Amino acid sequence: MVEALPSVAFLGAGAMGGAILRGVVASGIPVDGGITATNRTAARAAELDGLAGVRSIALEQETSGNAVAASARIVVVGVKPAMVPDLLDEIAPHLREDAIVVSIAAGVTLATFAAHLPAGTRVLRSMPNTPATVGRAVTGLAAAADVTPEERALVRRLFETVGSVIEVEESQIDPLSTISGSGPAYVFLLIEELTKAAIGKGFAESEARLMAEQTFIGATALLEASGEDPAELRRRVTSPKGTTERAVAVLQEADLAALFARATDAALARARELAAGV
Ligand SMILES: NC(=O)c1ccc[n+]([C@@H]2O[C@H](COP(=O)([O-])OP(=O)(O)OC[C@H]3O[C@@H](n4cnc5c(N)ncnc54)[C@H](OP(=O)(O)O)[C@@H]3O)[C@@H](O)[C@H]2O)c1
Repeated sequence: MVEALPSVAFLGAGAMGGAILRGVVASGIPVDGGITATNRTAARAAELDGLAGVRSIALEQETSGNAVAASARIVVVGVKPAMVPDLLDEIAPHLREDAIVVSIAAGVTLATFAAHLPAGTRVLRSMPNTPATVGRAVTGLAAAADVTPEERALVRRLFETVGSVIEVEESQIDPLSTISGSGPAYVFLLIEELTKAAIGKGFAESEARLMAEQTFIGATALLEASGEDPAELRRRVTSPKGTTERAVAVLQEADLAALFARATDAALARARELAAGV
């Protein structure tokens, strides 16, 4: 028998909040007291209609929706970062004493949450990535110092419904974001570029896309299924003096390690600028 989650509210259940909400529903984990979701527009709210155990509220129809939903034990804040302080001010008087507030808003610090919530409110900050929509997220989770191991475990279970979870210190959330948060974009870029190489070799776009996309999907499925180290799997397709060896040697001339270090450093520098309001 799976242990139930306590009541959960998603304030701002758009692309990311909605993905996590759907993950919880799809997991079949019972949620005592149910799930409540709020969005501004009726159109957005309607996207969640019909999900088992979910009450979806449109604030344009029910203006007190956030206040009502904030009585859940776990309150996930899924609005855009700039909207977070106003939302916290709105819900602060309605939170229960043992509320666990979980942020998915990029760049908003635990200190900002604490400044807008009643003293003692438990707060965690998370950084999921877009594969959450297909249940394959990597989510970084950082808890404020007063969050208990039991509370952390509850929030971990929530995010594990959409993929893997890594618990880190808050100072590591931005670095993590440069790897797994932005990472899907790096992978898509590599796929785009390999597709172009195929088109350059005379393949039609549909063939080129199939080759590049299915090679990434197939190789990562092999990585996962085999449990092997990627370097070992690479060695297995790289025979000495063979064709792959030549190609890999050219790729390595580009010093990919240094390139990824520079790219992720640039993302980190931008996260710091955004935090400073630049
Ligand atoms: N997408 C990502 O890859 C990603 C990754 C990590 C973190 N995040 C974070 O996730 C958060 C949401 O991003 P998103 O991409 O999911 O954006 P999104 O699709 O626009 O979702 C935000 C939702 O909040 C609703 N909303 C706006 N004001 C509200 C209010 N006062 N109360 C309740 N709901 C309200 C919006 O409803 P309406 O549409 O009806 O106005 C919308 O559905 C951001 O803080 C972002 O930093 C996103």
